[in-house]
Amino acid sequence: MTKRVAILISGGGSNMVSLVDSMKGYHPARPVLVISNNPDAGGLAKARARHVPTFVIDHRQFGKDRPAFEAALHDALCKARPDIICLAGFMRIFTADFIRQWEGRMLNIHPSLLPKYKGLHTHARALEAGDTEHGCSVHEVTAELDGGPILGQARIQIEPDDTPETLAARLLPLEHRLYPAVLRRFAVGDRSKVTLSG
Ligand code: GRF
Repeated sequence: MTKRVAILISGGGSNMVSLVDSMKGYHPARPVLVISNNPDAGGLAKARARHVPTFVIDHRQFGKDRPAFEAALHDALCKARPDIICLAGFMRIFTADFIRQWEGRMLNIHPSLLPKYKGLHTHARALEAGDTEHGCSVHEVTAELDGGPILGQARIQIEPDDTPETLAARLLPLEHRLYPAVLRRFAVGDRSKVTLSG
């Protein structure tokens, strides 16, 4: 049975594009919805250009009422009946209650070699630590921020003249290879780890 995939974005959606473009031909999954919490997200036009239905739930309309935002999001997701949810540059943190309803079916890509550098500013933190390598991770989403089981990692060497910007730019193409590779396995129930290097 072809798995139905919903993708959540907040910005440019380059990882969403890679996921959507990978789900072609003989593939165990198909995109059914792209949701953004940001009405100005550049990824929305990219999804529409690929004929993927889109939906916007502007979190700012809910103020500090996170449960109300999540209830609207949950409702939109239930209507799309996803088997898998991919967070792709989605910048809102979920409550444990929301995650509990989708745990085991929700993935995220994080720009660090987890468990190192959970949270934000990962490239700067790797540089400040003097690391010689960096990378990205795809993991199952659990109540622990960036802490779920790791399903894939891609590694790059840090160059002496790297900045957070050059590191992010060199890492993004690997993200675009890693996430689709993990999704293809996850869609057939294969949780064996994908490992790539740049
Ligand atoms: C990427 O670096 C990703 O790792 C992080 O958000 C950034 C932008 O992603 N989660 P996208 O271009 O919006 O997919």
